[in-house]
Amino acid sequence: MRASPTAALLAALLPLAASAADAPARPARLGLCAACHGETGMAQVPGAPNLAGQRLDYLREALKQYRDGRRAAPLMRAAIGPVGDADLDALARWYSAQTPQAPRP
Ligand code: HEC
Repeated sequence: MRASPTAALLAALLPLAASAADAPARPARLGLCAACHGETGMAQVPGAPNLAGQRLDYLREALKQYRDGRRAAPLMRAAIGPVGDADLDALARWYSAQTPQAPRP
């Protein structure tokens, strides 16, 4: 018996729906971060770490540490500023969801 066209269509669309739901929206504050960490979390400048694909809980905690002054890195403290938890979470989600690329030479 052939699968109904509707079932086939649903099967084709379901993964799309799932990935769209998983993909975080581009954070409003990403532009500044991208100057050093890249839009997709691959570092653009010497000394900046790659962020793509790092664990969400780790990125969130790291950003809180910069924001609250528990990590003493003046550059990052200045970059993150007095960000609220929602924005901070959006940035951590964005970078965590990126796929790491091969490092630049
Ligand atoms: C001027 C360059 C610059 C900008 C702009 C910048 N960063 Fe960073 N970032 C760095 C550097 C350098 C480090 C390493 C600091 C350290 O030693 O802790 C870092 C570290 C981090 C880390 C910790 C990574 C790890 O593996 O522990 C995170 C997360 C991060 N940045 C996110 C961001 C976000 C989000 C923004 C935008 C709000 C941003 N950065 C803006 C340079 C920058």
